[in-house]
Amino acid sequence: MKYLNIGTAPAASAVSLGCMRMAGLDEKRVDAIMDCALENGINFFDHADIYGGGQSEVLFGEYLKRHAGVRDKIIIQTKCAIRNGQYDFSKEHILSAVEGSLKRLGVDCVDFLLLHRPDTLMEPEEVAEAFDELESAGKVRQFGVSNHNAMQIELLKTAVRQPLKVNQLQFSVTEAGMVTSGMNVNMKNADSVMHDGGFLEYSRIRKITIQTWSPFQHGFFGGNFVDNKDFPELNAKLAEIGDRYGLSKTGTAAAWILRHPANMQLIAGTMNPDHLSDVCKAADVTLSRTEWYEIYRAAGHCLP
Ligand SMILES: NC(=O)c1ccc[n+]([C@@H]2O[C@H](COP(=O)([O-])OP(=O)(O)OC[C@H]3O[C@@H](n4cnc5c(N)ncnc54)[C@H](OP(=O)(O)O)[C@@H]3O)[C@@H](O)[C@H]2O)c1
Repeated sequence: MKYLNIGTAPAASAVSLGCMRMAGLDEKRVDAIMDCALENGINFFDHADIYGGGQSEVLFGEYLKRHAGVRDKIIIQTKCAIRNGQYDFSKEHILSAVEGSLKRLGVDCVDFLLLHRPDTLMEPEEVAEAFDELESAGKVRQFGVSNHNAMQIELLKTAVRQPLKVNQLQFSVTEAGMVTSGMNVNMKNADSVMHDGGFLEYSRIRKITIQTWSPFQHGFFGGNFVDNKDFPELNAKLAEIGDRYGLSKTGTAAAWILRHPANMQLIAGTMNPDHLSDVCKAADVTLSRTEWYEIYRAAGHCLP
């Protein structure tokens, strides 16, 4: 496993386990996926108050209760601010959402709190008050955002004192807008449209870690692109390059993300231990520049 410096001690595993799909698992399956994560060197776990209506955090909290000593070795992240068909960055909502997560997880504090999706009605001063209270009460150690563009982060920073250390965004070889727009600058084609406000470059300048959600999904939860008949060229290329490194196709798609010098942290959502072990192997492989571009083009992207 490779580890990233995002201001935590210990350093954060480059592959994190996203717990969105944990809701609904029985105790045996929770133990299996968690044990597999820890055995593979994963120490970073991503949650949100809304995953499974709170059930994912509950199951995770029960795992921690059954396994004394694990809490102190891992980094727990949760997200808040999506509720009832709206986004809510009010101080009152942020504070109560964190209380709910702490209770469900059965912990005194979370290591990271992210604002899940930007609330256009945000008042940066209110967010700042909430963050200050959570930090001084020892309930949240560090802060970040999710699905934000660069200017939205700058807006928050007009009042928020704490560094915003991470931004969680959808990114995969098929959903690669972040790199594609940057390679189509000054063009008039659809690929030149920047959908995220230049976040990739901004994050590298500001030392913000990009966490990649849905690393193996096409579209917005369109299903896995691995072994998907709609992506024959991509699957053939993932298999060909994966063979060189002893990686599965999924592992190769993970290595493609981890190869980027922005040092992204991959958030894997599988609840299958074999699949998770495949993904983790990618952290020990560095694809060549040529391999990276071959996979990118096999996904259907064109270079101008
Ligand atoms: N910030 C946001 O807005 C946002 C949005 C969505 C997700 N997230 C975070 O990102 C995490 C990952 O999202 P995701 O679950 O959509 O990502 P993903 O890892 O791309 O997809 C996981 C899904 O792919 C399936 N899959 C099928 N074959 C697989 C294989 N060979 N290897 C791996 N997975 C395979 C998994 O099923 P099996 O379990 O059977 O393997 C699972 O249903 C979430 O848990 C959550 O923490 C954040």
